[in-house]
Amino acid sequence: MRVLHVAAEAYPLLKTGGLADVVAALPAAQRARGGHVRVLLPGFPAMLAGVADLRTVASLGPAFGAGRIDLLLGSMPDSGVPVYVIDAPFLYDRPGNPYLAPDGGNWADNHLRFALLGWTAAQLAGGRLDPDWQAQVLHCHDWHAALAPAYLAARPGPRPPTVFTIHNLAYQGLFDASVFSSLALPQHFFHLSGLEFHGQVSFLKAGLVHAQRITTVSPTYAREILEAAQGEGLDGMIRQRAAVLSGILNGVDPQVWNPATDLALTANYTQDDRAGKARCKADLQAKLGLDVEPGAALLAVVSRLTHQKGLDLVLDSLDAILAQGAQLAVLGSGDPHLEQAFAGACRAHAGRVAVHLGYDELLAHRMVAGADLLLVPSRFEPCGLTQLYALRYGTLPLVRRVGGLADTVVDAEADAMASGRATGFVFEPATVAGFQHALQRSLEAWRHPALWQRLIGQAMAQDFSWTGAASQYDLLYQEVCRA
Ligand code: ADP
Ligand code: GLC
Repeated sequence: MRVLHVAAEAYPLLKTGGLADVVAALPAAQRARGGHVRVLLPGFPAMLAGVADLRTVASLGPAFGAGRIDLLLGSMPDSGVPVYVIDAPFLYDRPGNPYLAPDGGNWADNHLRFALLGWTAAQLAGGRLDPDWQAQVLHCHDWHAALAPAYLAARPGPRPPTVFTIHNLAYQGLFDASVFSSLALPQHFFHLSGLEFHGQVSFLKAGLVHAQRITTVSPTYAREILEAAQGEGLDGMIRQRAAVLSGILNGVDPQVWNPATDLALTANYTQDDRAGKARCKADLQAKLGLDVEPGAALLAVVSRLTHQKGLDLVLDSLDAILAQGAQLAVLGSGDPHLEQAFAGACRAHAGRVAVHLGYDELLAHRMVAGADLLLVPSRFEPCGLTQLYALRYGTLPLVRRVGGLADTVVDAEADAMASGRATGFVFEPATVAGFQHALQRSLEAWRHPALWQRLIGQAMAQDFSWTGAASQYDLLYQEVCRA
């Protein structure tokens, strides 16, 4: 099956979150199963610098304010998956974060930057832009790519079916109504059951309305977004499309996240030989300026610092963490208030709390390996990848029972312990008391090394490979092509 994935980021080229991990790993897994998949990305400087063997396939002429637009084709640096890159310097030649200007606000022309992505995807999938390759299915990820199904719907003639994957409903690509006329879509697409959302233009809605199938990244999140509490104002619309909505759980890329081979680690280890994990912990404590104490439980956070992630619960529980002799290490960036609060905690508790603000891929791997517990107390979590990485690295996840976290971590309660299924600690209410109850239970377990090692063994035995997800997407593509 020939599938074109369309997205704004892909690891290792450019990454702000889990979307990039998925856009790298899923096409690679599909290719390994014999799929003829390609990826389309905007030509941000990191894409042009990182994609191998780029050559020009077509010129797209002026559009969305950009004069020169070239479609290039190359391959992903690690997996070799073919990648199209849209080279449009006027819209994309800006360093740093793909969505935000240096002042931290959205780029004022983001509607044009991501309209070009969707528009090019529709040209490529629906026409003869690349005479050597035509997609049978167009698979769009998040709001950045969500206009593609609308552009295809606006075209006459045969067109490939589209799948739209929601990685996070909280990011919708909302713009002032006045931008609609610059999107080159028929005026009648701007109405209540089209792209309009409370008087604004919603890119995400274009995907929800015009794609033939909608997926999200875990079965539980697929159910949650049908209700007002997690529906971000779109639950009514999503309920209308419930028949074509499904949840397919993300996986782990073993080329990138594998404690047996990870080059970022001081020592490698496996489920059967875990000696290296203790060395990773000691090394991490030393590197971060924490007291090198094997007996102190090391709690880690590797996360975007946003309201979604519920990390205020960790801040509000700092005293409880420290009172039990545990240590806290945080790697993250985002909300300035959360950044300042964590930085303050670090200053106040030298040797017990370490905070690294910013984005650091290498340190992320070292923290996932060196910590004892990974904290993911999210208010909502479409899938969540860090808890999957933690399981694989024998670092027990402490998570809230929500979205993909609920689908992937089994709480260490009596039944699950007795049947050997427990892999972490799960709490329900998004409150300090709820979090601290799970924290308490996890630190009690920590004090029983044999029990702790049993849990680590069970966590590391979990299989979250991409193979299962890739075959579920295959079935979906086949269905949508038959429809
Ligand atoms: P989300 O996509 O909502 O941010 P996920 O758990 O799906 O959450 O994915 C987060 C990804 O980003 C993981 O690969 C994680 O390791 C990485 N990550 C998050 N924050 C940082 C950071 N500050 N430095 C390095 N990697 C980070
Ligand atoms: C989003 C979600 C996260 C998910 C990731 C990849 O960023 O917040 O839960 O794991 O996308 O699908």
